[in-house]
Amino acid sequence: MWRKVLLVMCACVVFGEDMLPEEFTRCRQKDAKLNDCLKGAVPDALRKMKKGIPSLGVPALEPLLVSSIDIGAGAGPVVIMQNYRRIKLHGLTDSVLTTYKADLKHYRLRTDSHTPKMEFIADYVMKGRILVLPIQGKGIANITMLNLVVKHDLIGEPVVRDGQTYMHIKEYRVKFVPQRVLLYFTNLFNGDKRLGDQMNAFLNENSELVFNELKDSYEKSLSSVFQDVSNKIFDKVPMNKIFLED
Ligand SMILES: *[C@@H]1O[C@H](CO)[C@@H](O)[C@H](O)[C@H]1NC(C)=O
Repeated sequence: MWRKVLLVMCACVVFGEDMLPEEFTRCRQKDAKLNDCLKGAVPDALRKMKKGIPSLGVPALEPLLVSSIDIGAGAGPVVIMQNYRRIKLHGLTDSVLTTYKADLKHYRLRTDSHTPKMEFIADYVMKGRILVLPIQGKGIANITMLNLVVKHDLIGEPVVRDGQTYMHIKEYRVKFVPQRVLLYFTNLFNGDKRLGDQMNAFLNENSELVFNELKDSYEKSLSSVFQDVSNKIFDKVPMNKIFLED
């Protein structure tokens, strides 16, 4: 008897369907203006998730914490081994969406976002060479992207559980297109101020080159963070409670 009760309870905890928070705007699947509805509803939801949604396990988005990003030295003009830890991303919740294309039949969502200012603040360790100059340091990194356009492509698949269909995101692709990137690293060259100032100035003069070398790793790490956050909702709230059926 108790075994049964326990089993039922566990099933509820694991499989119980959750709801979107009341204050989120819902969009209807059959709405001819579904994309316009989502274009407004998603950034609005982001702003309401600044502190996260504890009941769904959604972490705070302002700032969004990322545990680590490691970038191998690679080859080419920028050969720098870089480790970032305790990363904080600020500014995501100020994003607006410029386009939205929902293809729910194929479980596919595509959207472009515009973020006025996204700050990436982290503890860093790096060592390597940029063009002909050696670079090394260990301190705090501030990589700020201005007027950042992010192209999001969410590829989902239906997962049926207890008669409910959930839209699991199996792949989340992102592309970053910042208008401008500002870089600042404290404590370069063991704190040598003159060398550090010169290198920070040099990095900013060549920020496009530097960023292009980092871009792939950032995109990969952040897409997996975005995927996890999305699935906190999509794996728990049935699809027809996110995109209403009628
Ligand atoms: C990071 O750099 C940007 C651009 O220079 C600046 O506005 C911002 O205040 C810096 N953030 C921190 C935490 O130092």
